[in-house]
Amino acid sequence: MRFGLLGAGRIGQIHGHNVAGMSGISLAAVTDAVPDAAQKLAAETGAAVMPVASIMNDRTIDAVLICTPTDTHADLIEQAMDAGKAVFCEKPVDLSSERIVACLNHISKANKPLMIGFNRRFDPNFAALKHRLDAGQAGNIELVSIISRDPNPPPVEYVQRSGGLFRDMMIHDLDMARFLTGEDMVEVHAVGSSLVNPEIGKAGDVDTAAVMLKTAGGVLVQISNSRRATYGYDQRIEVHGSLGMLRAGNQHESTVEFAGTQGFLADPVQNFFLERYANAYRLELEAFVAAVKGGKQPSPSGMDGLKAQQLADAATHSAQTGQMVRL
Ligand SMILES: NC(=O)c1ccc[n+]([C@@H]2O[C@H](COP(=O)([O-])OP(=O)(O)OC[C@H]3O[C@@H](n4cnc5c(N)ncnc54)[C@H](O)[C@@H]3O)[C@@H](O)[C@H]2O)c1
Repeated sequence: MRFGLLGAGRIGQIHGHNVAGMSGISLAAVTDAVPDAAQKLAAETGAAVMPVASIMNDRTIDAVLICTPTDTHADLIEQAMDAGKAVFCEKPVDLSSERIVACLNHISKANKPLMIGFNRRFDPNFAALKHRLDAGQAGNIELVSIISRDPNPPPVEYVQRSGGLFRDMMIHDLDMARFLTGEDMVEVHAVGSSLVNPEIGKAGDVDTAAVMLKTAGGVLVQISNSRRATYGYDQRIEVHGSLGMLRAGNQHESTVEFAGTQGFLADPVQNFFLERYANAYRLELEAFVAAVKGGKQPSPSGMDGLKAQQLADAATHSAQTGQMVRL
């Protein structure tokens, strides 16, 4: 399988290096709106630099990795599918659910593999938790708690273009709510505050948020998000069920602890997503390649991308109006 990569920024560099390091596949071409960014990644991985149109028209390229800014994803998915490519696209598909529906309709005839980059499903700890849930270790799921806090808030200029915390950040947790419970949500009740940086509030967004969700089967899911955690990237899950509780905690920079008269001192948790989810980014691409080679539709799908976006829209509406949203 030969890949073309669109967008050699933060996440594009991760995926580009992962593809280049996998056996049996190759990174054939890279493109970026900033030529130096494409040139640098190409030099590091042995790929060629090519314009988007050339990548789409190159029949020797089987799959396209879309790592450009969100507002380009839907157009690029459609172009790649029209050109007969399998597509791995970073989350979210688009900030508008209507645009995602139009995109999924557009590509339905092509029926080529499409996978959305909800990488947390592939984190080895979270995947192991899900595996044990499915095996019934915790019994019937009753309560799910998802804690997701960034180390530092992004610049306000980023916040202004992000679509808001629920669409930009919580979308990962909303997808995890569906993934863990195996159900769709029927109720969404969200609250948000601007407690970390007042400028984020002035930009019309929140930096601290909590959401309560209810599944069709009655399971309750709580999500807690903050744009600041003084101790690093806080990523935890707890599932309470009829037979017990399963939880997955943070990964620390090392397992070394100091013990003294004040108690135990552990290393900080891993700083941010590039470190915390390094394995997940590699494993999600391996899953994509396996699905494409096996002639299967990969998961998470475009429909998973749409459903997470619809939950983010509902949470945004609920936080803005103070009303619970029924889906
Ligand atoms: N799954 C995750 O954990 C995760 C993490 C970070 C970002 N993302 C998603 O990945 C996407 C990119 O985010 P990022 O942080 O890497 O952004 P970034 O700004 O670091 O990189 C985007 C790159 O795309 C290039 N670009 C812009 N328009 C282009 C175009 N039309 N054609 C080709 N190149 C173009 C830019 O020059 C830039 O180098 C976003 O949709 C974001 O939501 C996902």
